[in-house]
Amino acid sequence: MSSSRIPNFYRLNVDERAKIIKELTGLTDDELNILKSSKIGLSIADKMIENVIGTFELPLGVATNFLINNKDYLIPMVIEEPSVVAAASNAARMCREGGGLFAVSTESIMFSQIQVVGVTSPHTSVMRILQNKDEILRIANEKDPILYSLGGGAKDLEVRLIHSSVGTMIVIHLIVDVKDAMGANAVNTMAEAVAPYIEKITGGKVLLRIISNLADKRLVKVWTKVPKEAVGGPEIVDGIVYAWAFAASDPYRAATHNKGIMNGVIAVGLATGQDTRALEAGAHAYASKSGKYTTLSTWEKNEDGDLVGYLEMPMAVGVVGGATRVNPLAKISLKILGVKTARELAEVMGSVGLAQNLAALRALVSEGIQKGHMKLHARQIAIAVGAQGDEVDKVVSEMVKSGVIRIDKAKEILSKLRGN
Ligand code: MEV
Repeated sequence: MSSSRIPNFYRLNVDERAKIIKELTGLTDDELNILKSSKIGLSIADKMIENVIGTFELPLGVATNFLINNKDYLIPMVIEEPSVVAAASNAARMCREGGGLFAVSTESIMFSQIQVVGVTSPHTSVMRILQNKDEILRIANEKDPILYSLGGGAKDLEVRLIHSSVGTMIVIHLIVDVKDAMGANAVNTMAEAVAPYIEKITGGKVLLRIISNLADKRLVKVWTKVPKEAVGGPEIVDGIVYAWAFAASDPYRAATHNKGIMNGVIAVGLATGQDTRALEAGAHAYASKSGKYTTLSTWEKNEDGDLVGYLEMPMAVGVVGGATRVNPLAKISLKILGVKTARELAEVMGSVGLAQNLAALRALVSEGIQKGHMKLHARQIAIAVGAQGDEVDKVVSEMVKSGVIRIDKAKEILSKLRGN
């Protein structure tokens, strides 16, 4: 490529940008058409982010069997990884046999952080901030009259002193009930709005004014009881408890355990247009809140020998604002889910996370994760070598039978099938 410096690229329209990228990178017409064959519409995509030349698709599957708080849900999931949707449906069926999953959530409380540096007497400044709390909240709420009229808005302040390597700083948490929004825009706007007043009363300088993604005031808690027969018997129950105990004591395993939970959470997050990076950041920071990274879920055996799972994690999601309302695919996913509020969505997403975790642990303590995976992986390989229609299943079954799931093997089987 000659140079990635393309002045005024952002000023061009989608077609003009795509043409330049085609010329620079050697994309074919077909490849360009794939990029531009958008479901959400290029004009919408072009308003969502910058320098758009197309859109990117992932499969959307629907997980079945979910019973959450005694209500049935069909769960749209967007993910590139085979087995996840099947595993979620399977685990939801097991949970269903014990009455399903139960979830509660806190109010939609988010907060932004306001960093104040250069204060000469920090304790006096903290007192001034607290004494003027009502005025600070008033200024913040002026910025979002609609949220305020709905009963949301800035509710409180927390003021902390942080003794950092470059001196003591004041950090204010501006606590906001964001109702059905994810809330990043609301809390960031409010933090910026109150900054000049905070500088005036403290004599310090405000630097950062930004949301904290450790949304530990916006939690979802989920639990489920899975009858031992439903999960595969007493040995599997014990195995899952051992698997959890391993993860709870070892960050290396905990990261993977939590990744399994996030397979479910993020897949629903993507389908419904959430900020999935915020969800990941919040989840992993919350998993470290004791000072040691550990699991977001726990699994234990109850007095009847059944398996009981519990999950607690932040869940900053919205059903208004952001991509949820702009991206028509997110709107369709929300319609499939049938959720009415951000809290209901959070409860569903936490439940999918716990079910996904159950599915992974169950597979890991029994046949292992690769068996199911390999079959789906084999499908992708069969398609990659050009198998079509019935040929796909035939190539897959021959590959699985041979135990060799590779491109060369798939080619060989396909060529035999076709009589070459
Ligand atoms: C794979 O995407 C997720 C798992 O690794 C989760 C786990 O190990 O618990 C199977």
